Amino acid sequence: MERWSGRVALVTGASSGIGAAVCENLVKNKLNVVGAARRIERMQDLAEKLKNEEGTFLPVKCDVTKDEDVFAVFDKIKETFGGVDVCVNNAGIVGTGPGLLDGTPEEWRQIFNVNVIAACLCSKLTVNSIRERNLDEGHIINISSLAGHFVYPTASIHFYTGSKFALRALSEGLRQELQEDSTGIKVSKDTDIRIDDFNIAPF
Ligand SMILES: NC(=O)c1ccc[n+]([C@@H]2O[C@H](COP(=O)([O-])OP(=O)(O)OC[C@H]3O[C@@H](n4cnc5c(N)ncnc54)[C@H](OP(=O)(O)O)[C@@H]3O)[C@@H](O)[C@H]2O)c1
Repeated sequence: MERWSGRVALVTGASSGIGAAVCENLVKNKLNVVGAARRIERMQDLAEKLKNEEGTFLPVKCDVTKDEDVFAVFDKIKETFGGVDVCVNNAGIVGTGPGLLDGTPEEWRQIFNVNVIAACLCSKLTVNSIRERNLDEGHIINISSLAGHFVYPTASIHFYTGSKFALRALSEGLRQELQEDSTGIKVSKDTDIRIDDFNIAPF
């Protein structure tokens, strides 16, 4: 982690759960962390909790399904810190889950917009930010799920599962594009899941 000390990380979905925990950890490892989520007050509480750490935490209100909000976060980061070095695409929703036969396109669009489109946009803007500063290192981390590897027989998460499979495929696509471009920007597409640890046949 030492090499990232003083660098800038964007974490989406920073207002609760895994995103808030990631922010706390990065701040404690001396990064300047920008949290993006809709519930600004929860992130402000986190900022208060982290105010004496060596890194910093800046909460920015953002609905990641609104492109203009996402652009505004990157503008804010550029203005405050110069740019983004690490992007943790964590914001994710499961949906209310009536299954594929009873679900609605509105809900499917919302899940896809949060879990997939927003991650692609934040990744692209992070790469742009790294390139415009003529840097050759950065890290994009896409928070997937076991549901990005297995299709569980649980109707309520089937669309979510599709979105996590898509995110995993798109992460690999991004990794290939970056490799072709000979950049030092890395893409991590998962927690390092050891498939053999799970007694389920991958799809
Ligand atoms: N928890 C698990 O067991 C588990 C397992 C596998 C994978 N995951 C993945 O891990 C990630 C985090 O999960 P979690 O359990 O920590 O979830 P969580 O506690 O429900 O947090 C979800 C985060 O996403 C944000 N978010 C949702 N919609 C958003 C939007 N439109 N714009 C901006 N932010 C939005 C929420 O912020 P606001 O509501 O404030 O906007 C919240 O901060 C997700 O990608 C999830 O799929 C979780």
